[in-house]
Amino acid sequence: MGSDLEQMQRDMLGRIAAAADPAALEAERVAALGKQGAVTGLLKSLGAMSPEERQSEGPRIHALREAVTAAIASRKAALDGAALERRLATEQLDMTLPVAPPLQGSVHPISQVMDELAEIFADLGFSVATGPEIEDDWHNFGALEIPETHPARAMHDTFYMDRTDAEGRPMVLRTHTSPVQIRTMQAQKPPIYIIAPGRTYRSDNDATHTPMFHQVEGLVIDRGITLGHLKWTLETFLKAYFERDDVVLRLRPSYFPFTEPSVEVDVGYTLQNGRRVLGGADHWMELLGSGMVHPRVLANCGLDPDEWQGFAFGCGIDRLAMLKYGMDDLRAFYDGDLRWLRHYGFRALDVPTLSGGVGA
Ligand code: DAH
Repeated sequence: MGSDLEQMQRDMLGRIAAAADPAALEAERVAALGKQGAVTGLLKSLGAMSPEERQSEGPRIHALREAVTAAIASRKAALDGAALERRLATEQLDMTLPVAPPLQGSVHPISQVMDELAEIFADLGFSVATGPEIEDDWHNFGALEIPETHPARAMHDTFYMDRTDAEGRPMVLRTHTSPVQIRTMQAQKPPIYIIAPGRTYRSDNDATHTPMFHQVEGLVIDRGITLGHLKWTLETFLKAYFERDDVVLRLRPSYFPFTEPSVEVDVGYTLQNGRRVLGGADHWMELLGSGMVHPRVLANCGLDPDEWQGFAFGCGIDRLAMLKYGMDDLRAFYDGDLRWLRHYGFRALDVPTLSGGVGA
């Protein structure tokens, strides 16, 4: 029986490795592991064996099943990989080709708003920083004083990956742009004046939440920075962004693990014919989170909190775009509907400039 099993395993593994497509591989799987499969048959035969026989044959048959299962999984991964490669090769686009008129493309409102933010903050002396969208636990949470047991973790609806970091914890799709704060403080010496716009991910989906969304993070680290600097910066930014001088902010005490004190910033609006119009202080709408960078966060990045202070803020870009350009369903941003894009998109050469309109 022993050498029969070995022969059987060699044959099966040979056929699995030779399976040319998913259908052929599935046929091999059914032939071996299906209800009537050969390996399944052997497993069933264990019941009729004497205890001694079972003790010697059992492990061999189980080993056969494991070898076949592993071979199928690895062949499947290879076939899937090859199929993806083929698809990528056929779907290749030559981005250097000249655009054929009539010009179809438009700049997505999100890209437009990111350009506007970069323009406004460049004028205030900020540069644009970036970080990876697949983050390790420490940058996304730990360094921001959100340890594993912290209740704020639950609010993040995190997407965890199979890959793990150096400490064996799963990598995550970043749930906010705040890890870019950490990376920037690690990589450069203060003074630091940056914004970090980019994609963020949470497992959430309705008219105002999509699993992928955009945030902009702001970070200032310098000597003698106060909450007053934060308020002035946000006011200047929002007046420039909404192109109105009557934008009124309200700072409410709040809580974030990585700032102390923390404030939530509301912006005032009025209702005109049922539509929200920014400006005035009839109604308030929550716009962003911010605060003074927590001394422990500074220390986590190797900065001495007695020497350096700073403020940070985080704001949803999709929200900013909806408010300024009047869309009401976030999901439409990502449908790729040409009619929507034609309506809300921007001309490719319509680069925002402070003098040309994005500025106050
Ligand atoms: N990271 C927070 C979030 O996604 C937003 C935020 C709040 C960012 C306060 C900050 C901050 O930098 O200071 O909910």
